[in-house]
Amino acid sequence: MAAYDTDTGDRDITGGRARADAGEDMGAEGALRRDRAVRAAVEQGLVGPDTPVVALLDTVGIRASVAALRAAFDAVTAPGTPVLHAFAVKATPLVPVLRLLHREGVGTEVASPGELALARAAGVPSARTVLDSPAKTPAELREALALGIALNADNLQELARLDALTGSAPTRSPIGVRVNPQVGGGSIGALSTATATSKFGVALRDEGAREWVVRAYLDRPWLTRLHTHSGSQGMPLELMARGVAEAYGLAEEINARAGRRQVDTLDIGGGLPVNFGSDAHTPTYEEYARLLASTVPGLFDGRYGLVTEFGRSLLAKHGTVLARVEYAKSAGGRAIAVTHAGVQVAARTVYAPQSWPLRVAAYDAGGRPKTGPEVVQDVAGPACFAGDLLAEGRSMPLLEQGEYAAALDTGAYYFAHHYGYNSLARPGIYGFGPDGPDGQDGPGGQGGPEGSGGVRFAVVRTAQTSEEIVAESGGAHADALTGAF
Ligand SMILES: Cc1ncc(COP(=O)(O)O)c(C=O)c1O
Repeated sequence: MAAYDTDTGDRDITGGRARADAGEDMGAEGALRRDRAVRAAVEQGLVGPDTPVVALLDTVGIRASVAALRAAFDAVTAPGTPVLHAFAVKATPLVPVLRLLHREGVGTEVASPGELALARAAGVPSARTVLDSPAKTPAELREALALGIALNADNLQELARLDALTGSAPTRSPIGVRVNPQVGGGSIGALSTATATSKFGVALRDEGAREWVVRAYLDRPWLTRLHTHSGSQGMPLELMARGVAEAYGLAEEINARAGRRQVDTLDIGGGLPVNFGSDAHTPTYEEYARLLASTVPGLFDGRYGLVTEFGRSLLAKHGTVLARVEYAKSAGGRAIAVTHAGVQVAARTVYAPQSWPLRVAAYDAGGRPKTGPEVVQDVAGPACFAGDLLAEGRSMPLLEQGEYAAALDTGAYYFAHHYGYNSLARPGIYGFGPDGPDGQDGPGGQGGPEGSGGVRFAVVRTAQTSEEIVAESGGAHADALTGAF
């Protein structure tokens, strides 16, 4: 039964409840694994006085999210439908993450030469990669076409470039056009891509635009895909589904006018929001897939291949920044924990705290979850400006010197998106999983959340050194401004 009845707008309470429970269970299991990993990170010395900030990625959780995504779409698509889940690399641009996802059957969506290089370094084949950037240069287009990477043209001028390039060299690349269904924005304007004036894609409701797109397809038999992505965090699922419905309706119109199935694949983008308020993984992929299936049933009847581009929803809940409290002080009656996690790992939260509130968990000096009376406090970062706060006026067990603050749900668009304020170093990132043969818990692994054994770490990215900071800051050109002018 569908989660939503689109005719009446009624919620299917029973099915919805079961799906919410599944999301709660995933979250509770993830929280237990996180607590064990934090303690193990402290006990194994990954974090401490000399390495006061580190980031952790839960490999079991990432795999579980991939399984949930695949199962959700498998359940609503006709057997044999080609489905490519392409991870939006921008969410977590780390080669080991892309390789893990690739091994789990997930491809990549890239939006820059750097992201494409990361996907290739991870071993993701061209046939499982999609290029979507709004500002592709001729060189980028040429490279994608030479590699046979699928790409979505953003606008008329890009199509003109593709006319020239495909005319001069044959390509295996499936090519589509990105359309902006202009269905409206969500609660975060900066991440809403289906507004009337969004910079992305062809604005479908603008005068003459729809006819122009249809004609563009009829004139170019090599246009076989259609792409839309209505936005990310803050978008209501119903609005996302409406955007997909608009793209589907356009594909049907193109195919009817072409008299054949010219558009054979719809790329529905990503955008499933993440719950930053608790451990629960809600909304679930299952909820979204069912909503799509009830809103756009024709999309799933086997006539169209599908591409998805989820990012945040696959990784966010599986990342944690763990930072030592360097000093605990008070000012104006406010307790302040000065930690080593701030704007460099959580730029969005620091600059736009209303849109991007993060949960912060308190751990004692041994890495055990802190309990005790809640105290209103600020959790501050190390950067030299007053707004560098992970949390302001937050009620939580009092953080003391030598203890740890953990910024939760930071696996996407946070620590992998370093912001170099104060030349703060990029922290090391470790993946963690159960320690034992075949990924099972080892002898120390039965300790539950109180135990620290049974957790194994692997380096995903080493911490940036001061030498690297100097090198990346023009160290090799120290005389450039004094010697040349
Ligand atoms: C074209 C496109 N696809 C996919 C995504 C991924 O969105 P999310 O991480 O919210 O799933 C984005 C995000 O900006 C995007 O622009």
